[in-house]
Amino acid sequence: MLKKHAIIVLLPLLGLALVTGGSALAGGDAAAGAKVFNKCKTCHITSGEAKRMGPSLECVFGRTAGAVEGYRYSAAMSGSGIVWSHDTMAEYLKNPRQYLKGTKMAFAGLKNDQQIEDLLAFLEGATVGAACPK
Ligand code: HEC
Repeated sequence: MLKKHAIIVLLPLLGLALVTGGSALAGGDAAAGAKVFNKCKTCHITSGEAKRMGPSLECVFGRTAGAVEGYRYSAAMSGSGIVWSHDTMAEYLKNPRQYLKGTKMAFAGLKNDQQIEDLLAFLEGATVGAACPK
């Protein structure tokens, strides 16, 4: 069900990318990424301090993993030393439990590279607010 829906949503976008001459993997599409974020929404918000099952992703880029105060991370995450960037997050989201053994994030991963690029384009905008360090 979900997959079929995603294909219906993505096909016109792909067509648009072809018409505008863009290669399918050249950069992400934030609008498409907002839809990919539906997979994360039950556990994460992009701004504000409220925590769900996972920590808020506000200001996540440039931050060391495991740094949201008051959120109880796994030892694996808080001791990882990962700094979140486009590249580290792309790797993490492909297969969280392989990238970081012992993480308590129960998410299988995004197998589609374009989805990851789109999601990152969305997150790079949506997680940056006035409260973030410059
Ligand atoms: C079922 C709930 C769940 C889903 C779905 C989920 N996450 Fe998570 N996420 C977590 C939890 C729990 C942690 C804390 C992991 C730890 O401490 O090991 C986490 C941690 C993270 C972190 C590290 C944050 C930090 O402060 O270091 C990032 C980045 C992240 N998730 C992004 C995502 C994205 C993007 C998606 C969607 C593609 C997603 N997550 C889907 C539960 C989830």
